[in-house]
Amino acid sequence: MSAIESVLQEKRVFPPQAKASAGAAISGMEAYKALVAEAESDYEGFWARIAREMLSWHKPFSKVLDESKAPFYTWFEDGELNASYNCLDRHVEAGRGNDNAIIFEADDGTVTNVTYQDLLDRVSRLANALKKRGVKKGDRVVIYLPMSVEGVVAMQACVRIGATHSVVFGGFSSKSLNERLVDVGAVALITADEQMRGGKALPLKSIADDALAAGGCEKVKDVIVYQRTGGKVAWTEGRDLWLHEIVENESNQCEPEWVSAEHPLFILYTSGSTGKPKGVQHSTAGTLLWAAQTMKWTFDMKPGDIFWCTADIGWITGHSYIAYGPLAIGATQVVFEGVPTFPHAGRFWEMIDRHKVTIFYTAPTAIRSLIKASEADAKVHPKSFDLSTLRILGTVGEPINPEAWMWYHENVGRGQCPIVDTWWQTETGGHMITPLPGATPLVPGSCTLPLPGIMAAVVDETGQDVPNGQGGILVVKRPWPSMLRNVWGDPKRYQTSYFPEELGGKLYLAGDGAVRDKETGYFTIMGRIDDVLNVSGHRLGTMEIESALVSNPMVAEAAVVGRPDDTTGEAVVAFVVLKRARPEGDEAKQIATELRNWVGKEIGPIAKPKDIRFGENLPKTRSGKIMRRLLRSLAKGEEITQDVSTLENPAILDQLGEAR
Ligand code: WTA
Repeated sequence: MSAIESVLQEKRVFPPQAKASAGAAISGMEAYKALVAEAESDYEGFWARIAREMLSWHKPFSKVLDESKAPFYTWFEDGELNASYNCLDRHVEAGRGNDNAIIFEADDGTVTNVTYQDLLDRVSRLANALKKRGVKKGDRVVIYLPMSVEGVVAMQACVRIGATHSVVFGGFSSKSLNERLVDVGAVALITADEQMRGGKALPLKSIADDALAAGGCEKVKDVIVYQRTGGKVAWTEGRDLWLHEIVENESNQCEPEWVSAEHPLFILYTSGSTGKPKGVQHSTAGTLLWAAQTMKWTFDMKPGDIFWCTADIGWITGHSYIAYGPLAIGATQVVFEGVPTFPHAGRFWEMIDRHKVTIFYTAPTAIRSLIKASEADAKVHPKSFDLSTLRILGTVGEPINPEAWMWYHENVGRGQCPIVDTWWQTETGGHMITPLPGATPLVPGSCTLPLPGIMAAVVDETGQDVPNGQGGILVVKRPWPSMLRNVWGDPKRYQTSYFPEELGGKLYLAGDGAVRDKETGYFTIMGRIDDVLNVSGHRLGTMEIESALVSNPMVAEAAVVGRPDDTTGEAVVAFVVLKRARPEGDEAKQIATELRNWVGKEIGPIAKPKDIRFGENLPKTRSGKIMRRLLRSLAKGEEITQDVSTLENPAILDQLGEAR
């Protein structure tokens, strides 16, 4: 039975426990329905109300939603604010400067506390230093940093002066970094000498040097380097600057730059089904609003809570639920530099115990790998730690299979913590479909119901609603404040990717398949319907990996598909035709390793194919089209039941089917 089938047959229901509902921001289904009704009866009024409640405006907005240039929507456009002011100053002004903003735990276990006042000082200093270097409102700054307080400081410092940041995950290659620097038109790059992961120092600055040397990014005038390890780095005089040196003599006062609600807060690159990664452009007010509001609704965050989101700031989850959401509501959060398996696979549970975490948010892949580890070694099992402070658990990034859900519920949540399975995307800015911890009866594997104000639906290929119980395409019917505003530099792509004509041009196309339960209307996500893979919760375009493979001089042709994987959700399988004869045995193994490393260098280690198979050709129709459905079956090791009569070269199936 596939994971989706098992979710659809799932009969277990976990109603909210009384203690989860008591005092919750949304305390039951009645309260949820009232908010849904409010949004339905007065859509703009609903959003205006929460935008006034959640955010501090320098200049109040008078207009809410402008649809005149649809699908290029604007929200609260004539309002002015600053995201950093909302995340820092307003808490300090309210007398909470001594509250902990961040409990940082380094890879080696060293813990540092950073108060709101400290954070504001550090952000202001760096903001002043950036200004001194000529970085100004509207400029783009690329951030290529490890998980660190400095990462959050860098993001906040950019938005404080109205610069738009674009964070690139520290696991991306120099080529990926170069492409992003060029596409976004960066004027500065903030990086580190090295990063520490699992006891090992890994290079960052040298990768950044390669990225800059690759050309096209001559606009980058300053490279600011955070000294993390003190490891040796090459230095370009006149360009490279140590972070600690440039902030040393800066004032800790920096007046925030007030920007329009629509001013781009950040651009974050993500994979699509075609072409290069897209620069997803987010607005200041809308994205900040929803990050803050969902902290309250989805996580029921209250004073005294200790929040921990294990994502990296290089992904959207680390933007909305580390750099912005928790700070916007004045929360205390744990930020972790390391990996879940170092020095042992009980690190997460040990840290929850040590920091008395109350709300824990992680990815299904992490859970699945820790299940395996704790089955092998009782010492790293969650039951070996005191997790009694936990009250809410969350997951994000990929579907969670019911077995992993149950394990998380029983072993980490002690059967007492609601699990919020949050469905959302880089493009949506914040949670879209998710249970509410004090209200929603939970069904393992289902993300349940849309948040109030989010008009999610399942439609067919023509944009018509499909009845519950029938699978279809997941869409959002009305614009919402935290939605992406554009694809950076490519409005046409924004329009065709997200508001396709086939669906009428008005529905937001998420790119996922979904089905709603016949009785409850609960949503279950069935995975991507485009050529995007989800490996360990990371989005990868099959075309990107194919292009990387084909750029290797040995490769004539390549096709990449996904295959279900017990730990990573999906795994990358590549079918490759070499320019030389099809390799076999040891030679095949050796070339496969070479190609895997090649992809690692071209894109980043996360994109390395798990399985590479060589053929003399690829299965093609007589018109030359690669039959991907067949490749997917071959990747899974399924018997071929599809009609292969249009196949030009049926013998190829035997070659490619043989798993290596
Ligand atoms: C998938 C991550 C099932 C989905 C926040 C989506 C999920 C893509 C879930 C976005 C979930 C995310 N259940 N699938 N709870 N959350 N996805 O942009 O395919 O990195 O389209 O954003 O992850 O990935 P992205």
